[in-house]
Order: sequence, then C-alpha cells, then structure tokens
Amino acid sequence: MSQNNLFLTPDSGDKSAYIRMMESTVHAIAEAVDHGQAYAGMGPYELRAAVHSEELLPAQGRSFEEILSEVKEKILPNLVRPMSTNYMAHLHSPALLETVAAEIILSTFNQSMDSWDQAPVATEIEVEVVRNLCKLYGYDEKGDGVFTSGGSQSNLSGLLLARDWFCNTKLNWDVKKFGLPEQFRRFRMYASEISHFSMEKSAHLMGLGYDAVAKIPVDDAMRMDMKAFREQIEKDIKEGFFPFCACATVGTTDFGSIDPMKEMRGICDEFGMWLHADAAYGSGVILSEKYAHRVAGLAACDSITVDFHKMFLMPISCSVSLIKDGKNFEALTLHADYLNREEDEEDGYINLVNKSMQTTRRFDALKVWISFRMRGKEGWSELITKCIDNAAYFYSQLAKRDDVEVIVKPEISSVVFRLLPVAGSTEDADTMNKRIRRSLLHNKGVVIGQTVCRGNTCLKFTLLNPLQNEKKLDELLALILSLR
Ligand SMILES: Cc1ncc(COP(=O)(O)O)c(C=O)c1O
Repeated sequence: MSQNNLFLTPDSGDKSAYIRMMESTVHAIAEAVDHGQAYAGMGPYELRAAVHSEELLPAQGRSFEEILSEVKEKILPNLVRPMSTNYMAHLHSPALLETVAAEIILSTFNQSMDSWDQAPVATEIEVEVVRNLCKLYGYDEKGDGVFTSGGSQSNLSGLLLARDWFCNTKLNWDVKKFGLPEQFRRFRMYASEISHFSMEKSAHLMGLGYDAVAKIPVDDAMRMDMKAFREQIEKDIKEGFFPFCACATVGTTDFGSIDPMKEMRGICDEFGMWLHADAAYGSGVILSEKYAHRVAGLAACDSITVDFHKMFLMPISCSVSLIKDGKNFEALTLHADYLNREEDEEDGYINLVNKSMQTTRRFDALKVWISFRMRGKEGWSELITKCIDNAAYFYSQLAKRDDVEVIVKPEISSVVFRLLPVAGSTEDADTMNKRIRRSLLHNKGVVIGQTVCRGNTCLKFTLLNPLQNEKKLDELLALILSLR
C-alpha cells in the first residue's frame, strides 16, 4: 500500500495524522464562525458556479491541507448557521457541543447498529436509551423502540406496524408473508389537513396510495376537528372502507399545534384503530417542566415519532420510533444466516436490525445518552422552556399590533404571521411578505420561514434556539417592519 494514514490505528503515525486532521478541521470550523449572521454566503447561481468542478476525481490526489483550504474558501462561508439567533426558518436546530463531540466518536469507530457483533456497547446503549425514552413518554415495560434516520422514517415505521397490526388482528392476514390483503384499496388512515407530507409518502410506500389518507379539517387553533374526524370515519365505514389508523400531529410543521390525543384515543378505541403520534416536533416539550402537560396525551398513543434533530438540538440525523407494545416490531423481523442468527439471539446477543427498516445504521443513540446525562432534567427543562417562552413573547408583541396579522397562539415555539401593507402602498400583501423574506436572506443575514395559510403568504419564526431572547426578537421585528 503506497498510501499512509488511512485509519486511526494503534500506529503512532496514524494517531498523529488523526489528531492533526481533527485539530485542523476543528480550527477551520471555529474560525469560520466569525459573524452572527444566519447566512452570509452567495446566492444560488454564483454558488453553483463557485463549486462547479470538472474534476471531482482527479488523476492524482492532493494533501488534506490543500483540500481543507478549499473547504475553507468554498464551503464553510456558504453554510447556513442554525446556531445564529438570526436563523429561524425551519424545524432545523443548532447542534449542542457535546452532541457534536459524540459525532466524532460515532464516526471514528463507525459502529453499525444492525447486529451485536458490529456494535456491542452501542447496541446496549441504544437499548438503554430506548428503555428510558419509553418511560419518559409514559409507556410501560412492554414499550420498545428503534433509532431511525428521521421523522419521516419514524412515521413510516409506526404506520407500517399499524397496518400490519390491523391486518393481523382484524383481518387475520399476514402482510409480511402474503403482501396486502384484497381489501387494501379500501384501507383508510386519518390525519389533519395540515399534517406532515410523510403521511401521504408513507401511504404510497405502504402500497396504499395517497388517497388512503383522509385529511381532516382543523379548528381555529389548527388542531384536528374531532367532530369532523368522527363523521369522516362513520361515513367511510358506511361506504365500506376500513379505518385502520389515525395520526395525531403533536407539533404541526408550521404552527406547532397539537392534535387532541386523548379524544383521538377514545375515537380510535371505539372503531378499533391504531393511534400514531407524529411528535417529530413536539416530542421535546416533554422535557419542559412548565409545559410537559401539553403533550401528556402521548402516553395514550400506540406509536410515537420522536425527533432529536429538532427541539432536542442534536446533529442530523437522530430520531426514534417508539411502540407501546414492542411485540409489533415482529413485522420488521427477518432472520438471515449472515447477520442476525436466531441461535445467537438465544444466547443473549441482541441484533437491533430485528426492529428496523434499515440494515446498516448509525449509533445516534450516543448523542442522546451523552447529552441527557450531561445536562440532566434541570438543564433540559431550561433549554426547552426558553424556546416556548420566546414564542409566547413574540406572539404577544405581534398580537398587539394592527398592522400585523398573527395566525394562531403558539402551543410550542412557532409563530406564523403576516405583515399588512401600509396605507398608500401599491404592493399586495403576498408580494410584500415574500419580498421581505428574500431581502432578509440576501441582504440582512436573517433566515426566516415562509408558508401559506388559508391562501395567504405568511412569514414564520420557528424558535428552536435557546440563545434567542426578547431583546433580539424586538430587534428582528423592528427590522422586518422597516422593510415594508
Ligand atoms: C410534523 C413533522 N413530522 C415529520 C417530519 C419529518 O421529519 P424529518 O425531516 O426528520 O424526516 C417533519 C419535518 O419537519 C415534521 O414537521
């Protein structure tokens, strides 16, 4: 082998190369964070031209130092800064320092979570983290879970288990063996009209199609309307459909509104349905001593999507799919002689692939383990509560103005609003709000969200950064108003 320093090995040369590369990278990163803007990089055309290269794989390579200087020049300045208090566009959080450190451990050792022999202690840590999470969300010892790539996959995992549970228990049909039963075109699942698009995507992937998702209207607080939910199920049953599952969105993408889980549980029980909670956003609320009661209904759901790369401030990817009765994971279990042998499992080797749609999988549970132990209940409660308090404050500032329309009082940490044109302006409100967002992005280093609510273009603050504060929110509002 003509090339040195491929991996971190016991060799002293490899060790110094590892330390040198990590140190120079960490220094380059820290130096690049030299301003408070959320984005100070190029616009789309300029950026595309700057990174365009004919030679991704040149005939001869160059040194790491040379490539790192290219990274410093082309890449680092053009990264958005989720850690900036000027960044609040999406459910996209900054990453806590200790969880970035955890990423170095898990990438260096590159454990793969499919089988015990690829991830011994990592397997035991994931099991331990999942056990504690089940307890945190109110599940008993039957609860179980698995880490996934994100909220979309956690939703798919929960909904797939719901479909198979329904087929097994109500139709006496094993989907795993035989595929979908003949009634599949009449399967129905229910989610609010503002639920995440992973509902439809999951329905497609499960072989049911988008039309299997009945979209239920929301009330003025942007929560699923319970009367409409019940009426839709009753109508569907009369027409020969099979309602198998409902999804409560616990923190809608735009508004952070929380569907009424306890009422949904009652209706699901009445009609023999599984209740899934898409708490990709709202799962973090459980750690706020002040606000945890808002998500207490999660304990009543059959499955829960928890995203750690949203409110929990961890690097992407980090999510978990929790199931109230872990035996439903059987739907995802398949033994292979080369990987997860039953004989090994009988001897106590846990192969987490048995619960997962993925095979090779990251040791993301380490980030949760390190950060939960480091900050404790008190530290976590402070971080989450601050974000929710910030949203309540910003809402109160907007609600007292008559030149701003604020859509709904926040239940978590998102505020959606729309500026109204000033007297004498010829620009319509939609055009003005869109122009303001673009101008903030390219001229002011401020990245905020934009969405449509009841046909109108709105602006959105998704406040996931606990460094955000009232003074800064006042300044941002003044800046936005000045751009009208
Ligand atoms: C309510 C909700 N569910 C699911 C998701 C999907 O999560 P992910 O992007 O981690 O796949 C999102 C993403 O923002 C979301 O807002």
